[in-house]
Amino acid sequence: MTEENIRLSKLLSSWGFASRRKVEELISEGRIVVDGILVEEQGLKVDPANVKIEVDGNEISSDKAGLQIFAFHKPPNVLSSLKDDFGRKTLSDFIKHLPRVFPIGRLDYDTTGLILLTNQGELANKLLHPRYKVEKEYFATVSGKPLTKEEMIRFSQGIELEDGLTAPCTIKFVKENSYQVVLREGRKRQVKRMFQFFYLRVESLVRTSFGPIHLGNLPEGKLRSLTDKEIRNLTNSISV
Ligand code: URA
Repeated sequence: MTEENIRLSKLLSSWGFASRRKVEELISEGRIVVDGILVEEQGLKVDPANVKIEVDGNEISSDKAGLQIFAFHKPPNVLSSLKDDFGRKTLSDFIKHLPRVFPIGRLDYDTTGLILLTNQGELANKLLHPRYKVEKEYFATVSGKPLTKEEMIRFSQGIELEDGLTAPCTIKFVKENSYQVVLREGRKRQVKRMFQFFYLRVESLVRTSFGPIHLGNLPEGKLRSLTDKEIRNLTNSISV
C-alpha cells in the first residue's frame, strides 16, 4: 500500500459516482468488486491510479474528471424519469447503484431502446440541443396503408406538425410495416406524430442508436458503461 491509497468510498464519491454512504451500502450488498475480488471490508483502501473497480459487473473509472456515461436498454412500460408519483416503474428501478446519473432525453412510456445516462448536465444539454443535430435512429412498426414514395419524400423533407415544421430527416422502408427513421431533433412523441400525419399508427417504436452509440445486443433492462472510444466519439459529435 502506498501513501496515495484512499478509501474506496472516498474515491468513488470523489469521482462523482455516488455518495460515500451509498458506496458503503453497495459494499454491504456485495455489489463491488476490486481487482477481481469481491469487497467485504468497508475501510478498503485502493490506489486510484491502478485499480479496477466494478459495480454490478460495470467497470467504473475516473476517466475525464468523473464523467460517467451508460447505455441502458429501456423496456416498455417504464418511465424515462427517476421518480413517479403514481408508483409506475422508472429508470431508478434499474439503476439503483448509480444514484447520481440522469437520462439524456426521454423515450415515451411504451417506447423501448437506447437511453444514455450521465452525471454531467452540460454534456446532456449539448447532446439534446438542436444546434448539434445529434442523430437518433428509430425502428418503427406501424399499422395502416404503407407510405407511398411521395409520402416518404415529404416525411423526410419536413412536415407541418402543431409545433412547427419538422427538420429534414431520413426514412427507409425496412419490411412490411416497418421503417427506419433517423431524426436530428427530438420533440415530444415526434416519430409517432410524424406517422400520424399520414394516418399511420405506430404500434411499436425502438430507439436503436443515439449519435454514434448503438443499442446493439444489450438485453432489455440492462445497463453498460460506454467504452472510452464511444465516449470520445460521442463528445466529438458535439464539438464544433
Ligand atoms: N418519438 C416518439 O414518438 N416517441 C419516442 O419515445 C421517441 C421519439
